[in-house]
Amino acid sequence: MTQISSPPTDKHWQASEPFTDQKPGTSGLRKKTQQFLQPHYLENFVQAIFDTQPALAGGTLVLGGDGRFHNHEAIAIICRMAAAHGVTRLLVGANGWLSTPAASAIIRKYEAAGGIILSASHNPGGPDGDFGIKFNGPNGGPASEQVTEAIYQRSQKIEGYAILPDPAPALEAQGEYQLGATRITVLDPVSDYAELMESLFDFAAIRTLLSGGFRLRFDAMHAITGPYARALLEDRLGAATGSVMHGEPLTDFGGGHPDPNLAHARELVDLLWQDGGPDFGAASDGDGDRNMILGHCCYVTPSDSLAVMLAHAEQIPGYRGRVSGVARSMPTSRAADRVAKALGLPAYETPTGWKFFGNLLDAGKVTLCGEESFGTGSDHVREKDGLWAVLYWLNILALQRKPVGEIMQAHWQQYGRDYYSRHDYEGLPSDIGAAIMQRLRDQLPTLPGQQLGGLNIQTADDFCYDDPVDSSRSANQGIRVLFENGERIVFRLSGTGTSGATLRIYLEAYEPPSGVLDSDVQERLAELIKVAETLCAVRALSERHAPTVIT
Ligand code: G1P
Ligand code: ZN
Repeated sequence: MTQISSPPTDKHWQASEPFTDQKPGTSGLRKKTQQFLQPHYLENFVQAIFDTQPALAGGTLVLGGDGRFHNHEAIAIICRMAAAHGVTRLLVGANGWLSTPAASAIIRKYEAAGGIILSASHNPGGPDGDFGIKFNGPNGGPASEQVTEAIYQRSQKIEGYAILPDPAPALEAQGEYQLGATRITVLDPVSDYAELMESLFDFAAIRTLLSGGFRLRFDAMHAITGPYARALLEDRLGAATGSVMHGEPLTDFGGGHPDPNLAHARELVDLLWQDGGPDFGAASDGDGDRNMILGHCCYVTPSDSLAVMLAHAEQIPGYRGRVSGVARSMPTSRAADRVAKALGLPAYETPTGWKFFGNLLDAGKVTLCGEESFGTGSDHVREKDGLWAVLYWLNILALQRKPVGEIMQAHWQQYGRDYYSRHDYEGLPSDIGAAIMQRLRDQLPTLPGQQLGGLNIQTADDFCYDDPVDSSRSANQGIRVLFENGERIVFRLSGTGTSGATLRIYLEAYEPPSGVLDSDVQERLAELIKVAETLCAVRALSERHAPTVIT
């Protein structure tokens, strides 16, 4: 049962009314910054968190964000509200900074009752960009659907919120502060996280690799991972100064789109494709939970990255002898399943969104997990973790002493290759997005047995997930179309956008070890792409002639 506190009658109470648009998505409440700037908007949602999470009163709360525009002001408001709600101890990252994985690590380390993370992840920031807030529970992971729903329901009935009139402490300097009855510790956002990384990876081996002429570039995209990457890669591991590019967190991410993919990390990609360019490249997103892995002239798809990490787990100190299984989101390629099969480990297929991994990780059913959308992680925290993935790869490279491209070739020669690409149609009118999906759903029963462009459809369904841990069911998680030779198309609508609809089309084709392993991906998938466009009729229904982003 959720306990709802009754409005205090003292001077800390501010009357307010519900906002009807505070329905959190899979990654918390994410809206245009301007919406968050409305009076009482943030406060109402935070009040709903305190009303539905009674353990926060008298407990420890972790607080931080990705440094985007309004981060600082929002942190100050939440500090004052936490004090008004009787939080005993508040752990806040200095400058108001905490990457999402670091927040998760800190919640776990200090056994906090939860954490509030301010971020709109990879979405652009600034007054015209996006802002977001999410609540993570005591396991360090995103709130469950039930908790999220309870917060939403409560946000619709708010009559006011409690806030201390006193100002919050300055966040620039680390130290101990008192606000009302709440002790506020402003902590170094990096050190707890860096310690955790050091406990998982062979830092000595990586240091030797980096001192031997191996060159890396990490693109922090002017977002939160700059300070983390500098501390870990340059200071602790000895990468050359300047290996971290765009390392200064900026409130608008320098006007960029802090999403580590081939489109948005163009400068890094160009560097890696230059003659004599670096041996290894990587990037992370706004809040530090995503990663992109590159070698010289080589792009590792996130799906392949998970598979390679699993295949090498026995060589990584933090994972040796303890991998229980792997999980991937449904649209992620099946590359990791092939490794799991070879290793005799269970492989789970979950809906898109990190929270489905949490149950499996908590229950010890899986140790590694990942998504095609540049998200990889393990049981060390309950979020995906960008820099962790980078260090994992550096650990592999330090032991293998082979270029990234050769590691990939060797992997495909052993397991075969899952050619993979995602085509996004962004900014469609919402009704068109819904119509495309409905049309696909209506067609489902007639698809098996059909031949399209020389490919035979074997099965087609709308993915439905029964959680093996809590037995909850999540239906309508995306349309899957499987073909006879192992090709697969998945269609789903994005759940994280802040305006309109984004149609995502995920395409993959399997090539066995004996096949052609070095084709151009878009060429190899050309026929399947045509079939996908025919099936969903995106051109006819939306008048779009090409995807907005191809990754
Ligand atoms: C996207 C990704 C998904 C990821 C989420 C949060 O969600 O596709 O894998 O978990 O961002 O980072 P989508 O917009 O597709 O709903
Ligand atoms: Zn993110």
